[in-house]
Amino acid sequence: MAVDGVERRIFAEKLAIEAGRLALSYQEQGDLKVRSKGVLDWVTEADVEIEQLIRRRISESFPHDAVLGEEEGDDTPEIGEGASIWVVDPIDGTTCFVSGLPSWCVSIACVDREGEPFLGVIYDPSRSEMFSALAGHGFAINDRDVPAPSKGITDGLVGVGHPRNAPAEPTLTFLERLFAVGGLSYNAGSAALALAYVAAGRLVGFFESDLRAWDALAGEVLIRESGGWSTSFMRDGSLMTSKPVLAANRASASALWDLAGDMLEGCSRPNVHGPM
Ligand code: IPD
Ligand code: CA
Ligand code: CA
Repeated sequence: MAVDGVERRIFAEKLAIEAGRLALSYQEQGDLKVRSKGVLDWVTEADVEIEQLIRRRISESFPHDAVLGEEEGDDTPEIGEGASIWVVDPIDGTTCFVSGLPSWCVSIACVDREGEPFLGVIYDPSRSEMFSALAGHGFAINDRDVPAPSKGITDGLVGVGHPRNAPAEPTLTFLERLFAVGGLSYNAGSAALALAYVAAGRLVGFFESDLRAWDALAGEVLIRESGGWSTSFMRDGSLMTSKPVLAANRASASALWDLAGDMLEGCSRPNVHGPM
């Protein structure tokens, strides 16, 4: 990590709070202008405006960095472009956001020139919770360090997301296997927030069969820094391909791999066990 990660972390936390509060004001005021991208796939004026705000702030403070965002992804940066690449989901959990539910967040990650994600910031405006991690500097919630979670898969809930416009089979297979071993599932409606909950110890793990970089990268950094295990989104060297994501605390990683490992091409069984 040649760039200044500490400076970027402070900046990203401030920016996520600004963006999150703006999004919350849209949700509270109601009457959102919503455009449909497909079945249960919406984009609101808030998604677009907040991504623009985030892009503007990044280019003011880090003019040599590149940005990949969900809503304006056309100008796709390549690994190695700029000092680092910011990967942004202005609102993750738009379906919840539009439905007036509190389970959504702003997700901001940073990837270095080698393609390694090194910074993850996930802000939940509804609960004023900041989940943040910088590689080598640990994981914090609202600036407080959190003990490494260590519950087994039947001692807590496993987050399971189902991607829109994707086959149901991998999700159903995972759920069937989870129920068969006595586990229970929870759908947060926001993959990024679910990953933050794994880092926080509120969920023991998370699976979704098809995610994009802006859904997964910030959470991956949080989970690694919390002592947990996650598939590597950059395992195929691409920021732009969608792929399955599995993540867990150390105590649950092997058991979850047993349920989903055969659906995780290019990944290896986690070599982590029990508490740190
Ligand atoms: C979605 C959410 C959802 C997940 C979908 C994502 P969006 O992102 O993370 O939980 O199941 O796969 O696309 O559209 O709300 O940014
Ligand atoms: Ca998303
Ligand atoms: Ca989004």
